[in-house]
Amino acid sequence: MAKILLAEDDEIMRISVYDRLQKHGWQVDEAENGLKALALTEKNQYHLIISDIRMPGLDGLSLLRNVQKQSPETDVIIMTAYGSVDDAIECLRMGASDYILKPFDMDDLIIRVSRLLETQEVKNRCEALEESYRETNDRQLVGQSQPMQRVYSLISQAAPTNATILITGESGTGKELAARAIHKASNRRKKPFVSINCAAIPDGLMESELFGHERGAFTGADQKRKGKFELADNGTLLLDELGDLPGPLQAKLLRVLQENEFERVGGSKTVNVDVRIIACTSKDLQKEVEAGNFRQDLLYRLQVIPLEMPPLREHKEDIEELCSFFLQEFNSRHNKSVAITPEAIYNLKQYDFPGNVRELRNLMERASVLCGGPAITLADLPVKMDDPSGVTPEDFNLSSHVATIEQNCINRALLQTGGNRTEAARLLGISRKNLWEKMKGYGLE
Ligand SMILES: Nc1ncnc2c1ncn2[C@@H]1O[C@H](COP(=O)(O)OP(=O)(O)OP(=O)(O)O)[C@@H](O)[C@H]1O
Ligand SMILES: [Mg+2]
Repeated sequence: MAKILLAEDDEIMRISVYDRLQKHGWQVDEAENGLKALALTEKNQYHLIISDIRMPGLDGLSLLRNVQKQSPETDVIIMTAYGSVDDAIECLRMGASDYILKPFDMDDLIIRVSRLLETQEVKNRCEALEESYRETNDRQLVGQSQPMQRVYSLISQAAPTNATILITGESGTGKELAARAIHKASNRRKKPFVSINCAAIPDGLMESELFGHERGAFTGADQKRKGKFELADNGTLLLDELGDLPGPLQAKLLRVLQENEFERVGGSKTVNVDVRIIACTSKDLQKEVEAGNFRQDLLYRLQVIPLEMPPLREHKEDIEELCSFFLQEFNSRHNKSVAITPEAIYNLKQYDFPGNVRELRNLMERASVLCGGPAITLADLPVKMDDPSGVTPEDFNLSSHVATIEQNCINRALLQTGGNRTEAARLLGISRKNLWEKMKGYGLE
C-alpha cells in the first residue's frame, strides 16, 4: 500500500484532502507545519509527499530540498495558491514531480497522485527486470585449464566472423554458454540472440516455429506469426539439439543457410534474413549421417567451425574455480556465505561427473543451501562422493582399487597435515620412509 505524507497548515484544507486520500485506500500521515513534516520524513519512508508551499516553521521548498537529499525516489506534489505560480515553478525546477493550484478539484489531485504512483511501480518493475537480465547475462564460462583456454581462443577467433559454428560436447559441458559467449563477442552483440530447442518442439510445429506462418496456414493459425529466423534477423540464432531436427526440415534449413531466404508456412512470399547460425548437439552427427538420420550436406554446411566442449572429467583442475564461482552465485541468491573445505574439493576431483559442469553446479546449490556450517564438508556431499575409489560391481581388479584407496588416503593425510610428511605418516600408520616410497611410486610429490 502506498504511503503518503500530507503537509498543510490550513486545517479545513488538510482534513478534506486527508479524507479523500484515505478513502482512496492510501495510507496517509498528516503534518500541520513544515517542521513536523520534516520530522515525519526522517522516521518514515514515503512514496509521495503532498505539501503546501507556505507553512509556518519550514516552508514547502525547504521540505522539498530535504526530501531530495534523504530520499530522491519520493515524489513531491506542491500545492500552491493562485498568486504564487512562480514559487511552484521554482519547486518543479528543484525536482518536485508536479504542482496543483488552489483551489483545486479533488479528482484532479487523485488522478495526479495515481499517475505518479503508477510510474513508480513501472520503474520498480523495470529495475527488477534489469536485475534478472543482468543475472542471466552474467553467466560466463569459467575455468583456466588448457582445455578451456582452447575453447576461449576458438571463441575469440570465430566470434567476429559470420561463420556457422557447430558446438559439440556431452550434456552439461556449457555448449549453450559458449554459444552466448560467441554472440556477445561478435559485432552482432547488440542484436537479438534467439534460441530454439529442436528436441523440445513437436515435429508438426517445428517448421512454423522456425520460419513463421501466414494467417490461416493451418487450423489454429488465426494470426500471422514470425518464426525464430525472422526474430533473429541481424542477430544470432542458436539451433539447440540440432541432431533432432526432422528430415524434411533439414532440407529447408540447408536452403536457408545457402540462400538466406525462405517462405513462411502457408505463404508464397520470400523472406530475406541476415542471421548467424550456431548449432549445438550432444549427438555424434557423423554417426547420425551414417545411420541415415542426418544429411551429410547439412553437416558440412554447419561445421564450418567446429567447437568441442571438453567433458569436466578432462579438466578437473577447474573444479575448484567452478566451485567458488557457483558458491558466490548461490550465496548471493540465498543470502548465505558458505565456503568449501579442501577435503570436499579433493573428493569432488575424484568423481567423474557424467553430468559435467551442470551436475557440479546443481551439487553446489544443494550443498550450499543444506550446509549448516560455514563451509561445505564431505558430509554435505552426496553419498556417491563418499567413495572416491569409485568401485563398481563389474570391476574387481583388487590391486588397482587398493592403489586408488592408498593414493586417496595419502593425499587426504597430506592435506590434513598441511603437507607435513612426518605427521601424515603417523596418521597413516606407516613409516616416513614408506610414505616417501609410496608417494614416489604414485608420482605424488
Ligand atoms: N565452463 C563453465 N563455467 C561456468 N558455468 C558453466 C560452465 N559450463 C557449464 N556451466 C553451467 O552448467 C550448466 C549447463 O550449461 P549449458 O546449458 O551451457 O550446457 P549444455 O552443454 O548446453 O548442456 P545440454 O547438452 O544438456 O543442453 C549451466 O548452468 C551453465 O551455466
Ligand atoms: Mg544445451
